[in-house]
Amino acid sequence: MEIITIDGPSGVGKGTLALYLADKLDFNYLNSGALYRSIGYIADLKSIDLTDEKMLISITQSITFKLNKTSKNTEIMYENKNINKQLFNEKTAKTASKIASISSLRKSIVNIQRAFAEEPGLVAEGRDMGSIIFPDAIIKLFLTANTKTRAKRRHKQLKEKGINVSLSQLIDELEARDKRDTVREVSPLTVPEDALIVNTDNKSIGKVQEQVMSYIGNTIKI
Ligand code: DC
Repeated sequence: MEIITIDGPSGVGKGTLALYLADKLDFNYLNSGALYRSIGYIADLKSIDLTDEKMLISITQSITFKLNKTSKNTEIMYENKNINKQLFNEKTAKTASKIASISSLRKSIVNIQRAFAEEPGLVAEGRDMGSIIFPDAIIKLFLTANTKTRAKRRHKQLKEKGINVSLSQLIDELEARDKRDTVREVSPLTVPEDALIVNTDNKSIGKVQEQVMSYIGNTIKI
């Protein structure tokens, strides 16, 4: 079974590319960031101490994390409610990034992530997809863009949703999160040895998709 991994920092466009590829190849899709976000969200909701590893790990047992094969969405259920919409805000992202540095917690969710590898194939996005979770993936991509580009994209996205945040605040938040995700001891954001690095600065989404599809086409039969 073919696995494509996409790693890279916050706001670099992993989600957009992953969904495009999953759709184009009709592969399954794993948004691993949503798993970390859901744990962070519930930790905030229940005012759980972020150093209490046992409590954090027990959250993972109360979440159902599954793939909707039609919408390609990673659906997250907690207490019989879908919590997907609650996860994509800066507060939850910040808590997610903090709890993501806990080794025992990361280990406790490895199998949940690997279970997404189902026929006919998988596109998995995150920080450690190619390095730790799916080291045998046939295609590994690593997306990059400078902080300003990423902050500008996020700014535009939020504006479209009617949310007004200053660009400088977004740059500060991205830098803080990048730092936490990169310097942590366990599974830090790194470029897998055999990954194709795709710099997306000054490149439209269409151009990135085109470059990646041509790389994939040269490697696997599509
Ligand atoms: O991709 P995202 O912004 O939704 O991820 C939220 C946080 O989760 C991110 O700051 C770091 C963490 N994360 C991780 O450590 N490993 C992953 N595979 C995915 C996300």
